[in-house]
Amino acid sequence: MSFNTFGRVFRFTTWGESHGPALGAVVDGCPPGIALGEADIQPWLDRRRPGQSRFTTQRQEPDQVRILSGVFEGRTTGTPISLMIENVDQRSKDYSAIAQAYRPGHADYAYDAKYGLRDYRGGGRSSARETAARVAAGAVARAVIPQVRVRAWVEAIGGDAIDDAAFDDAQIDANPFFCPDAGAAARWEEKMDAARKAGSSLGAVIACEATGVPAGWGAPLYAKLDSELAAACMSINAVKGVEIGDGFAAAALSGEQNADPMRPGADGTPAFLANHAGGIAGGIATGQPVRVRVAFKPTSSILTPVPSITRDGTPTEVMTRGRHDPCVGIRGVPVVEAMVALVLADQALLHRAQCGIS
Ligand SMILES: Cc1cc2nc3c(=O)[nH]c(=O)nc-3n(C[C@H](O)[C@H](O)[C@H](O)COP(=O)(O)O)c2cc1C
Repeated sequence: MSFNTFGRVFRFTTWGESHGPALGAVVDGCPPGIALGEADIQPWLDRRRPGQSRFTTQRQEPDQVRILSGVFEGRTTGTPISLMIENVDQRSKDYSAIAQAYRPGHADYAYDAKYGLRDYRGGGRSSARETAARVAAGAVARAVIPQVRVRAWVEAIGGDAIDDAAFDDAQIDANPFFCPDAGAAARWEEKMDAARKAGSSLGAVIACEATGVPAGWGAPLYAKLDSELAAACMSINAVKGVEIGDGFAAAALSGEQNADPMRPGADGTPAFLANHAGGIAGGIATGQPVRVRVAFKPTSSILTPVPSITRDGTPTEVMTRGRHDPCVGIRGVPVVEAMVALVLADQALLHRAQCGIS
């Protein structure tokens, strides 16, 4: 098994490497008749694009998407949708020094151990360039479930969290950190500059909320919406933790604190008085906002030398010279959104297949 495909009914396969000529995704199982053009995909890729501030990698990739198949006269045809993004700013010479040395925190040793060889240029297939293809596929998923809004933001960088009382949705796209709290964004600017100057990097927590998810999407037991979302987000490069709702914090609450009390609401649907569960009960959406939090580790490639070994076991030190994200979690925001949208589009089609309703 090669595991480059995700999803059950709405499925996508990504292909390509960091330093290949192009990368992309094939989306299969998309319903026919959905309005879709490159202009519906490009804005999401633009949010993830590198080189947009000094807080992201300076690799300059326009990330222009091309739809190669599956769309005719502006509508999906029900056949595989092939999306392609060219790599234009790959610099293989940046990586020649680490052709033999394993970069700690990267997949170099693990890929060698598994496959017996590796494309060392920018990490090859293990590079997060691949996440551009996910974001393109995620844009198609959004078109399948237009009633759902998927919105993510950075909640903490280097352990410094936003103030929930200062949350302002309009701020998220107004600073280079996707930060909803203007005060925190100002602090993070100094924090990030200090980390960069010290040749270091920082981790981040991303929060994501999907609103408009109808009660009933999801499944019990082995395909719980919780587990599908966790698997999707955990599959993103550098992600080391996923929480649904209150997650680990729920374990410190009492039963009455953690309850999501219900009262009669409009149209016979319940009005929930809290959302500790993150909008999911028994693996199935309750109609409340679906809430996910994702922990990104600090960027492994840093300007500070880290002890390592070469392929033949000789001790060495690895210090990064290529271009890197000082905090990968920032550019993880559009990727988390894409993976959540991809899971929800899949769940929408699964729900319709089994229960006959959208
Ligand atoms: C959008 C994005 C950009 C990334 N950019 C970098 C980077 O510039 N430098 C780096 O060391 N890691 C970067 N990463 C993380 C690595 O790809 C990842 O840590 C590595 O492939 C090992 O995989 P793992 O951390 O999932 O075990 C990035 C991750 C994401 C999601």
